[in-house]
Amino acid sequence: MEKIRFFLPGPTYVPEDVRQAMAAPIVGHRSAEFRAFYQMLAGHLPAVLRTAGDALIATGSSTLIMESAVVSTAAHDVLSLTCGAFSERWHSISRGAGKAADRLAVPWGEAIDPDLVRGALRRKRYDAVTVVHNETSTGVMNPLADIARAIREESDALILVDAVSSLGGAPVEADAWGLDVVLAGTQKALALPPGLVIFTLSDRAAARAAKVERRGFYTDLLRYRDKHREGGPITTPAISLYYALDRQLERILAEGMEARWARHERLARRTAAWAAARGFTFAAAAGARSPTVSCLRPPQGVDPQALVKQLAGRGWTVGGGYGDWKPTTFRIGHMGEVRDDDLEALLAEADAALAALPPMTAAPPDRLAVGVSEA
Ligand SMILES: Cc1ncc(COP(=O)(O)O)c(C=O)c1O
Repeated sequence: MEKIRFFLPGPTYVPEDVRQAMAAPIVGHRSAEFRAFYQMLAGHLPAVLRTAGDALIATGSSTLIMESAVVSTAAHDVLSLTCGAFSERWHSISRGAGKAADRLAVPWGEAIDPDLVRGALRRKRYDAVTVVHNETSTGVMNPLADIARAIREESDALILVDAVSSLGGAPVEADAWGLDVVLAGTQKALALPPGLVIFTLSDRAAARAAKVERRGFYTDLLRYRDKHREGGPITTPAISLYYALDRQLERILAEGMEARWARHERLARRTAAWAAARGFTFAAAAGARSPTVSCLRPPQGVDPQALVKQLAGRGWTVGGGYGDWKPTTFRIGHMGEVRDDDLEALLAEADAALAALPPMTAAPPDRLAVGVSEA
């Protein structure tokens, strides 16, 4: 295996054999050959998404299925639980789709409290609730199982879940947790190139979708399900990316989902120990830290943007801060195929980069107390 020097919180490093798999010849997507391949490939998805129901593939980025889930399954009232940039995006999508969109917001860096969700559902009935499992912008992982239990106990709202930066790196149990749509772009903890989304659609969500009048075409999840059941995709798919998915699913399932989650947990713990020893603090609240991405605030006198740049100059990529947090944080994506020795090498390089940083002339503005902004 190549040594990994690319630690963005997505897209992530893609193994060489997976990149090479994309060089296979293109075939017709309605040919018998592709149909057999599709059925074999799709047959592996339930084990990753942990469902006995429909597990589907879309050509597009994660946002396509965030939008499709709202457009095609939510009749009218949507509650978005927000705690960072991507959960706020889902709220904007619901508003843009003409839904009656409410937001339950907690400050960036905090996780969604399931009891707050219970309260909101007691005050008003919703057709769907959107939840981002792992907020890549802040490095927060929400307690999805508990949130889903609260939603199920308090309401009949559909549970729409963005597992974009958790699937393949942390437990996501579509059936056991009663989730209706679970979606993930493939470019994060699944370690594939961007361009595909894998997702579930529960029977409950499909039944609701059947009653929604304007589901669009490319955004109609029922259409995805029906075509899938016939043995293919809805439109011309990104065939080369399917080849990559096939190769990488083999690797993921050979490692095993539980082993993969444990590896990510270990990488996060190691990053935390390194950070603590050098005076870095987590932007995510204690108890809510993500196993796939660490969003860190450097000690006094260290400019995170300069550190990211210094590492880039040495040939190593980590993520900068996101949105309002750009000046004060940076992010290490330890997900996908990152192994312990890859992370050790990065942390050693980060030490060298820290030592080489020029002294800071002015402190970055402290905007960490900034809460959510209106979408
Ligand atoms: C949690 C989360 N949701 C959604 C998205 C949007 O994904 P895409 O760019 O694949 O549409 C991202 C991208 O980083 C993300 O991290």
